[in-house]
Amino acid sequence: MSDAYILGIESSCDETAAAVVRSGEQLISNVVASQIATHQPYGGVVPELASREHLKAIVPVVRQALHEARHTYDSVDAIAVTRGPGLAGSLLVGISYAKALAFALDKPLISVNHLEGHIHAVLLEERQKGNHELQFPVLALVVSGGHTHLYLASQRDSSWTYENIGHTRDDAAGEAFDKVAKLLGLGYPGGPVIDRMSARGDPRAVKFPPAQIKHPDRRGRLDGKAVEAEETRRRFDFSYSGIKTAILRYVEAHDMRSSIEERRQALANIAKPKVEDYLAHCDGQTLNLVASFQRAMVEDLVEKTLAAAQEFEVATLFVTGGVAANAELRQTFEREAAREGLPVFFPSRPLSTDNAAMIAAAAYPKFLAKDFAPMDFSAEAGLVLR
Ligand code: KG4
Ligand code: ZN
Repeated sequence: MSDAYILGIESSCDETAAAVVRSGEQLISNVVASQIATHQPYGGVVPELASREHLKAIVPVVRQALHEARHTYDSVDAIAVTRGPGLAGSLLVGISYAKALAFALDKPLISVNHLEGHIHAVLLEERQKGNHELQFPVLALVVSGGHTHLYLASQRDSSWTYENIGHTRDDAAGEAFDKVAKLLGLGYPGGPVIDRMSARGDPRAVKFPPAQIKHPDRRGRLDGKAVEAEETRRRFDFSYSGIKTAILRYVEAHDMRSSIEERRQALANIAKPKVEDYLAHCDGQTLNLVASFQRAMVEDLVEKTLAAAQEFEVATLFVTGGVAANAELRQTFEREAAREGLPVFFPSRPLSTDNAAMIAAAAYPKFLAKDFAPMDFSAEAGLVLR
Protein backbone atom coordinates (compact mmCIF):
# COMPACT_ATOMS: atom_id res chain seq x y z
CA MET A 1 0.00 0.00 0.00
CA SER A 2 1.45 3.34 -0.98
CA ASP A 3 1.42 6.32 1.36
CA ALA A 4 -1.86 8.07 2.09
CA TYR A 5 -1.91 11.75 2.94
CA ILE A 6 -5.01 12.64 4.92
CA LEU A 7 -6.19 16.18 5.59
CA GLY A 8 -7.82 16.28 9.03
CA ILE A 9 -10.30 18.95 10.14
CA GLU A 10 -11.42 19.47 13.76
CA SER A 11 -13.95 22.02 15.04
CA SER A 12 -15.79 20.28 17.90
CA CYS A 13 -15.23 22.87 20.63
CA ASP A 14 -13.10 26.02 20.80
CA GLU A 15 -10.17 25.26 18.50
CA THR A 16 -10.32 25.36 14.71
CA ALA A 17 -7.70 22.90 13.54
CA ALA A 18 -6.37 21.32 10.36
CA ALA A 19 -3.47 18.94 9.79
CA VAL A 20 -1.90 16.67 7.20
CA VAL A 21 -0.78 13.23 8.40
CA ARG A 22 0.93 10.54 6.33
CA SER A 23 -0.46 7.01 6.74
CA GLY A 24 -1.35 7.52 10.41
CA GLU A 25 2.32 7.67 11.33
CA GLN A 26 3.89 10.95 10.33
CA LEU A 27 2.69 14.40 11.21
CA ILE A 28 3.37 16.64 8.23
CA SER A 29 1.61 19.80 9.43
CA ASN A 30 -0.55 20.74 12.39
CA VAL A 31 -2.32 24.11 12.65
CA VAL A 32 -4.52 25.06 15.62
CA ALA A 33 -6.35 28.39 15.90
CA SER A 34 -7.43 28.83 19.50
CA GLN A 35 -10.49 30.84 20.51
CA ILE A 36 -9.37 31.27 24.11
CA ALA A 37 -9.30 35.09 23.84
CA THR A 38 -12.92 35.12 22.59
CA HIS A 39 -14.28 33.01 25.44
CA GLN A 40 -12.01 34.25 28.25
CA PRO A 41 -14.27 37.13 29.38
CA TYR A 42 -17.12 34.61 29.87
CA GLY A 43 -15.07 32.07 31.84
CA GLY A 44 -16.08 29.25 29.50
CA VAL A 45 -16.93 28.38 25.89
CA VAL A 46 -19.95 30.28 24.50
CA PRO A 47 -21.35 27.95 21.78
CA GLU A 48 -22.79 30.69 19.56
CA LEU A 49 -19.47 32.58 19.55
CA ALA A 50 -17.55 29.35 18.95
CA SER A 51 -19.48 28.60 15.72
CA ARG A 52 -18.88 32.13 14.41
CA GLU A 53 -15.16 31.91 15.17
CA HIS A 54 -14.91 28.54 13.40
CA LEU A 55 -16.58 30.03 10.36
CA LYS A 56 -14.00 32.81 10.26
CA ALA A 57 -11.01 30.53 10.82
CA ILE A 58 -11.78 27.36 8.90
CA VAL A 59 -10.65 28.40 5.40
CA PRO A 60 -7.35 30.08 6.42
CA VAL A 61 -6.51 27.28 8.89
CA VAL A 62 -6.96 24.54 6.26
CA ARG A 63 -5.04 26.59 3.70
CA GLN A 64 -2.17 27.04 6.18
CA ALA A 65 -2.07 23.35 7.05
CA LEU A 66 -1.79 22.43 3.35
CA HIS A 67 0.79 25.16 2.75
CA GLU A 68 2.97 24.03 5.70
CA ALA A 69 2.73 20.44 4.49
CA ARG A 70 3.68 21.53 0.93
CA HIS A 71 0.47 19.98 -0.26
CA THR A 72 -2.41 21.27 -2.34
CA TYR A 73 -6.14 20.57 -2.14
CA ASP A 74 -5.57 18.14 -4.99
CA SER A 75 -2.58 16.27 -3.64
CA VAL A 76 -4.19 14.88 -0.47
CA ASP A 77 -5.82 11.46 -0.66
CA ALA A 78 -8.79 11.96 1.67
CA ILE A 79 -10.54 14.49 3.90
CA ALA A 80 -11.26 13.51 7.52
CA VAL A 81 -13.48 15.47 9.87
CA THR A 82 -14.77 15.24 13.44
CA ARG A 83 -18.40 14.10 13.54
CA GLY A 84 -18.85 14.39 17.32
CA PRO A 85 -19.08 14.52 20.27
CA GLY A 86 -18.97 18.28 20.72
CA LEU A 87 -20.96 21.46 20.17
CA ALA A 88 -23.39 20.85 17.30
CA GLY A 89 -23.01 24.32 15.75
CA SER A 90 -19.22 24.09 15.90
CA LEU A 91 -19.09 20.57 14.46
CA LEU A 92 -21.31 21.64 11.56
CA VAL A 93 -18.77 24.24 10.42
CA GLY A 94 -16.00 21.65 10.03
CA ILE A 95 -18.35 19.05 8.55
CA SER A 96 -19.87 21.43 5.98
CA TYR A 97 -16.45 22.56 4.86
CA ALA A 98 -15.06 19.02 4.71
CA LYS A 99 -18.06 17.89 2.65
CA ALA A 100 -17.69 20.80 0.26
CA LEU A 101 -14.00 19.99 -0.20
CA ALA A 102 -14.60 16.26 -0.69
CA PHE A 103 -17.38 16.95 -3.17
CA ALA A 104 -15.50 19.56 -5.18
CA LEU A 105 -12.25 17.57 -5.22
CA ASP A 106 -13.89 14.17 -5.62
CA LYS A 107 -11.97 12.77 -2.63
CA PRO A 108 -13.13 10.23 -0.04
CA LEU A 109 -14.67 11.75 3.09
CA ILE A 110 -14.04 10.08 6.47
CA SER A 111 -15.94 10.91 9.67
CA VAL A 112 -14.09 10.48 12.96
CA ASN A 113 -15.18 10.34 16.59
CA HIS A 114 -13.33 13.06 18.52
CA LEU A 115 -12.59 10.67 21.40
CA GLU A 116 -11.10 8.11 19.02
CA GLY A 117 -8.97 11.00 17.75
CA HIS A 118 -7.54 11.59 21.23
CA ILE A 119 -6.59 7.89 21.46
CA HIS A 120 -4.94 7.96 18.02
CA ALA A 121 -2.88 11.01 18.98
CA VAL A 122 -0.88 8.59 21.15
CA LEU A 123 -0.61 5.99 18.38
CA LEU A 124 0.51 8.58 15.83
CA GLU A 125 3.36 9.79 17.99
CA GLU A 126 4.47 6.31 19.04
CA ARG A 127 4.61 5.23 15.37
CA GLN A 128 6.48 8.39 14.55
CA LYS A 129 9.08 7.39 17.16
CA GLY A 130 9.35 3.99 15.49
CA ASN A 131 7.34 2.14 18.12
CA HIS A 132 5.08 -0.11 16.03
CA GLU A 133 4.76 -2.95 18.54
CA LEU A 134 1.78 -2.40 20.77
CA GLN A 135 0.82 -4.87 23.46
CA PHE A 136 -2.92 -5.50 23.86
CA PRO A 137 -5.21 -5.15 25.74
CA VAL A 138 -4.87 -1.36 25.75
CA LEU A 139 -6.64 0.78 28.35
CA ALA A 140 -7.09 4.45 27.39
CA LEU A 141 -8.01 7.23 29.81
CA VAL A 142 -9.45 10.10 27.76
CA VAL A 143 -9.53 13.07 30.09
CA SER A 144 -10.44 16.52 28.79
CA GLY A 145 -12.74 19.50 29.23
CA GLY A 146 -15.78 17.58 28.06
CA HIS A 147 -14.88 13.96 28.84
CA THR A 148 -13.50 11.57 31.41
CA HIS A 149 -13.72 8.06 29.97
CA LEU A 150 -11.92 4.75 30.32
CA TYR A 151 -11.88 2.61 27.16
CA LEU A 152 -10.56 -0.84 26.44
CA ALA A 153 -9.28 -0.54 22.88
CA SER A 154 -8.77 -3.45 20.49
CA GLN A 155 -7.65 -3.78 16.90
CA ARG A 156 -8.69 -6.40 14.37
CA ASP A 157 -6.94 -6.10 10.99
CA SER A 158 -6.99 -2.38 10.47
CA SER A 159 -10.19 -1.57 12.34
CA TRP A 160 -10.43 -0.46 15.96
CA THR A 161 -13.19 -1.03 18.50
CA TYR A 162 -13.65 0.41 21.98
CA GLU A 163 -15.46 -0.65 25.13
CA ASN A 164 -16.30 2.01 27.67
CA ILE A 165 -15.62 0.66 31.16
CA GLY A 166 -15.88 3.91 33.13
CA HIS A 167 -17.01 7.49 32.71
CA THR A 168 -17.80 10.58 34.74
CA ARG A 169 -21.22 10.75 36.36
CA ASP A 170 -21.23 14.56 36.32
CA ASP A 171 -18.41 16.99 35.52
CA ALA A 172 -15.44 16.05 33.34
CA ALA A 173 -12.03 16.43 35.01
CA GLY A 174 -11.04 19.38 32.78
CA GLU A 175 -14.38 21.00 33.52
CA ALA A 176 -13.57 20.75 37.25
CA PHE A 177 -10.19 22.45 36.65
CA ASP A 178 -11.96 25.19 34.66
CA LYS A 179 -14.77 25.72 37.20
CA VAL A 180 -12.40 25.80 40.18
CA ALA A 181 -10.13 28.31 38.41
CA LYS A 182 -13.14 30.49 37.61
CA LEU A 183 -14.35 30.26 41.21
CA LEU A 184 -10.92 31.37 42.47
CA GLY A 185 -10.65 34.26 39.98
CA LEU A 186 -7.87 32.60 37.99
CA GLY A 187 -9.39 33.00 34.52
CA TYR A 188 -10.00 30.53 31.70
CA PRO A 189 -9.02 27.83 30.81
CA GLY A 190 -8.22 26.70 34.32
CA GLY A 191 -6.12 23.58 33.69
CA PRO A 192 -2.89 25.20 32.50
CA VAL A 193 -3.00 27.87 35.26
CA ILE A 194 -3.71 25.40 38.06
CA ASP A 195 -0.98 23.13 36.66
CA ARG A 196 1.65 25.87 36.95
CA MET A 197 0.45 27.30 40.28
CA SER A 198 0.19 23.96 42.05
CA ALA A 199 3.96 23.58 42.18
CA ARG A 200 4.02 26.63 44.51
CA GLY A 201 1.54 25.31 47.09
CA ASP A 202 1.33 22.51 49.64
CA PRO A 203 -0.75 19.68 48.14
CA ARG A 204 -1.40 18.22 51.61
CA ALA A 205 -2.79 21.44 53.10
CA VAL A 206 -6.48 20.81 52.37
CA LYS A 207 -8.15 17.40 52.53
CA PHE A 208 -11.15 16.63 50.34
CA PRO A 209 -13.57 13.79 51.03
CA PRO A 210 -13.41 11.02 48.38
CA ALA A 211 -16.02 11.29 45.60
CA GLN A 212 -19.36 9.77 46.53
CA ILE A 213 -21.06 8.13 43.57
CA LYS A 214 -24.72 7.47 44.14
CA HIS A 215 -26.21 4.50 42.33
CA PRO A 216 -29.79 3.45 41.88
CA ASP A 217 -30.34 0.27 43.85
CA ARG A 218 -30.67 -2.42 41.19
CA ARG A 219 -30.60 -5.36 43.59
CA GLY A 220 -33.67 -7.48 43.22
CA ARG A 221 -33.98 -6.55 39.54
CA LEU A 222 -30.69 -8.09 38.43
CA ASP A 223 -29.37 -11.62 38.98
CA GLY A 224 -26.10 -12.27 40.89
CA LYS A 225 -23.81 -12.14 37.86
CA ALA A 226 -25.37 -8.97 36.51
CA VAL A 227 -25.07 -7.30 39.94
CA GLU A 228 -21.40 -8.25 40.03
CA ALA A 229 -20.77 -6.84 36.53
CA GLU A 230 -22.61 -3.68 37.50
CA GLU A 231 -20.51 -3.28 40.66
CA THR A 232 -17.30 -3.71 38.64
CA ARG A 233 -18.42 -1.05 36.22
CA ARG A 234 -19.27 1.42 38.98
CA ARG A 235 -15.81 1.09 40.50
CA PHE A 236 -14.34 2.84 37.49
CA ASP A 237 -16.77 5.73 37.27
CA PHE A 238 -15.70 9.26 38.18
CA SER A 239 -17.46 12.19 39.85
CA TYR A 240 -16.05 15.70 40.13
CA SER A 241 -18.96 17.94 41.06
CA GLY A 242 -18.40 17.23 44.79
CA ILE A 243 -14.85 18.59 44.88
CA LYS A 244 -16.00 21.79 43.18
CA THR A 245 -18.65 22.25 45.91
CA ALA A 246 -16.06 21.48 48.60
CA ILE A 247 -13.86 24.28 47.24
CA LEU A 248 -16.80 26.67 47.25
CA ARG A 249 -17.48 25.80 50.90
CA TYR A 250 -13.80 26.28 51.75
CA VAL A 251 -13.83 29.71 50.10
CA GLU A 252 -16.88 30.73 52.11
CA ALA A 253 -15.64 29.30 55.41
CA HIS A 254 -12.30 31.09 55.02
CA ASP A 255 -13.70 34.43 53.88
CA MET A 256 -11.82 34.42 50.60
CA ARG A 257 -14.49 36.19 48.50
CA SER A 258 -13.10 39.71 48.50
CA SER A 259 -9.51 38.68 47.73
CA ILE A 260 -10.82 36.51 44.86
CA GLU A 261 -12.71 39.48 43.42
CA GLU A 262 -9.59 41.66 43.65
CA ARG A 263 -7.57 39.00 41.84
CA ARG A 264 -10.24 38.57 39.16
CA GLN A 265 -10.18 42.29 38.40
CA ALA A 266 -6.40 42.62 38.51
CA LEU A 267 -5.93 39.67 36.11
CA ALA A 268 -8.69 40.89 33.78
CA ASN A 269 -6.59 44.00 33.18
CA ILE A 270 -3.60 41.96 31.98
CA ALA A 271 -3.85 40.81 28.35
CA LYS A 272 -1.89 37.55 28.69
CA PRO A 273 -1.11 36.95 32.37
CA LYS A 274 2.13 35.08 33.09
CA VAL A 275 2.87 32.80 36.05
CA GLU A 276 4.43 35.78 37.89
CA ASP A 277 1.19 37.76 37.43
CA TYR A 278 -0.88 34.97 38.93
CA LEU A 279 1.59 34.54 41.77
CA ALA A 280 1.65 38.28 42.50
CA HIS A 281 -2.09 38.09 43.13
CA CYS A 282 -2.24 34.82 45.11
CA ASP A 283 -1.60 34.31 48.82
CA GLY A 284 -0.29 31.09 50.36
CA GLN A 285 -3.77 29.92 51.29
CA THR A 286 -4.92 30.09 47.65
CA LEU A 287 -1.79 28.31 46.40
CA ASN A 288 -2.30 25.56 48.97
CA LEU A 289 -5.95 25.20 47.99
CA VAL A 290 -5.08 24.95 44.28
CA ALA A 291 -2.26 22.44 44.91
CA SER A 292 -4.52 20.32 47.13
CA PHE A 293 -7.28 20.36 44.53
CA GLN A 294 -4.89 19.21 41.80
CA ARG A 295 -3.46 16.48 44.05
CA ALA A 296 -6.96 15.16 44.78
CA MET A 297 -7.88 15.14 41.07
CA VAL A 298 -4.64 13.41 40.07
CA GLU A 299 -4.90 10.79 42.81
CA ASP A 300 -8.47 9.92 41.86
CA LEU A 301 -7.72 9.65 38.12
CA VAL A 302 -4.58 7.57 38.66
CA GLU A 303 -6.08 5.31 41.31
CA LYS A 304 -9.20 4.41 39.30
CA THR A 305 -7.31 3.97 36.05
CA LEU A 306 -4.73 1.65 37.61
CA ALA A 307 -7.45 -0.31 39.39
CA ALA A 308 -9.20 -0.78 36.03
CA ALA A 309 -5.88 -1.76 34.41
CA GLN A 310 -5.47 -4.46 37.04
CA GLU A 311 -9.06 -5.68 36.82
CA PHE A 312 -8.92 -6.03 33.02
CA GLU A 313 -5.30 -7.23 33.01
CA VAL A 314 -4.24 -4.70 30.41
CA ALA A 315 -0.75 -4.64 28.90
CA THR A 316 -0.57 -0.97 27.89
CA LEU A 317 -1.96 2.29 29.21
CA PHE A 318 -2.73 5.47 27.24
CA VAL A 319 -3.50 8.79 28.94
CA THR A 320 -4.79 11.43 26.52
CA GLY A 321 -6.97 14.56 26.17
CA GLY A 322 -6.40 18.13 27.39
CA VAL A 323 -5.88 17.20 31.06
CA ALA A 324 -3.14 14.75 30.00
CA ALA A 325 -1.01 17.87 29.52
CA ASN A 326 -0.92 18.22 33.32
CA ALA A 327 2.60 17.79 34.72
CA GLU A 328 1.61 16.22 38.05
CA LEU A 329 -0.79 13.80 36.32
CA ARG A 330 1.98 12.66 33.97
CA GLN A 331 4.56 12.25 36.72
CA THR A 332 2.15 10.36 38.96
CA PHE A 333 1.02 8.02 36.18
CA GLU A 334 4.62 7.38 35.18
CA ARG A 335 5.68 6.61 38.75
CA GLU A 336 2.67 4.47 39.70
CA ALA A 337 2.44 2.57 36.39
CA ALA A 338 6.18 1.80 36.52
CA ARG A 339 5.64 0.33 39.98
CA GLU A 340 3.21 -2.14 38.39
CA GLY A 341 5.39 -2.73 35.33
CA LEU A 342 2.76 -1.19 33.07
CA PRO A 343 3.96 0.87 30.08
CA VAL A 344 2.14 4.23 29.93
CA PHE A 345 2.04 6.51 26.87
CA PHE A 346 0.94 10.15 26.55
CA PRO A 347 0.75 12.40 23.51
CA SER A 348 3.18 15.32 23.46
CA ARG A 349 1.56 18.41 25.02
CA PRO A 350 0.51 19.99 21.68
CA LEU A 351 -1.29 16.77 20.71
CA SER A 352 -2.89 16.32 24.16
CA THR A 353 -5.30 19.21 23.66
CA ASP A 354 -7.63 19.43 20.65
CA ASN A 355 -5.96 19.22 17.25
CA ALA A 356 -6.66 17.83 13.79
CA ALA A 357 -3.58 15.59 13.48
CA MET A 358 -5.33 13.12 15.79
CA ILE A 359 -8.39 13.18 13.48
CA ALA A 360 -6.27 12.52 10.39
CA ALA A 361 -4.45 9.71 12.24
CA ALA A 362 -7.67 8.05 13.43
CA ALA A 363 -9.01 8.25 9.86
CA TYR A 364 -6.17 6.17 8.39
CA PRO A 365 -7.51 2.70 9.41
CA LYS A 366 -10.91 3.76 8.01
CA PHE A 367 -9.20 4.87 4.79
CA LEU A 368 -7.61 1.42 4.48
CA ALA A 369 -10.97 -0.25 5.14
CA LYS A 370 -12.68 2.11 2.66
CA ASP A 371 -15.00 3.10 5.49
CA PHE A 372 -16.10 6.37 3.90
CA ALA A 373 -18.83 8.71 5.13
CA PRO A 374 -21.95 9.24 3.02
CA MET A 375 -22.53 12.82 1.86
CA ASP A 376 -25.67 13.07 4.01
CA PHE A 377 -24.01 12.41 7.38
CA SER A 378 -24.39 15.12 10.02
CA ALA A 379 -22.93 16.29 13.33
CA GLU A 380 -23.69 14.20 16.42
CA ALA A 381 -23.22 16.22 19.60
CA GLY A 382 -23.51 13.11 21.80
CA LEU A 383 -21.71 10.61 19.55
CA VAL A 384 -20.73 7.48 21.51
CA LEU A 385 -17.39 5.70 20.96
CA ARG A 386 -17.65 1.93 20.37
O1 KG4 B 1 -8.95 18.03 24.86
P1 KG4 B 1 -9.27 19.46 25.08
O2 KG4 B 1 -8.43 20.49 24.37
O3 KG4 B 1 -10.75 19.77 24.70
C1 KG4 B 1 -11.82 18.89 24.97
O4 KG4 B 1 -12.01 17.94 24.16
O5 KG4 B 1 -12.47 19.10 26.01
O6 KG4 B 1 -9.22 19.73 26.66
C2 KG4 B 1 -9.40 20.99 27.23
C3 KG4 B 1 -9.40 20.84 28.73
C4 KG4 B 1 -9.74 22.13 29.50
O7 KG4 B 1 -10.68 21.81 30.49
C5 KG4 B 1 -8.40 22.55 30.09
O8 KG4 B 1 -8.54 23.26 31.32
C6 KG4 B 1 -7.74 21.20 30.31
O9 KG4 B 1 -8.09 20.44 29.18
N1 KG4 B 1 -6.27 21.33 30.38
C7 KG4 B 1 -5.54 21.01 31.47
C8 KG4 B 1 -4.20 21.34 31.17
N2 KG4 B 1 -4.16 21.83 29.88
C9 KG4 B 1 -5.44 21.81 29.42
N3 KG4 B 1 -5.91 20.51 32.67
C10 KG4 B 1 -4.94 20.31 33.58
N4 KG4 B 1 -3.64 20.62 33.37
C11 KG4 B 1 -3.22 21.13 32.19
N5 KG4 B 1 -1.94 21.42 31.98
ZN1 ZN C 1 -10.85 16.96 23.02
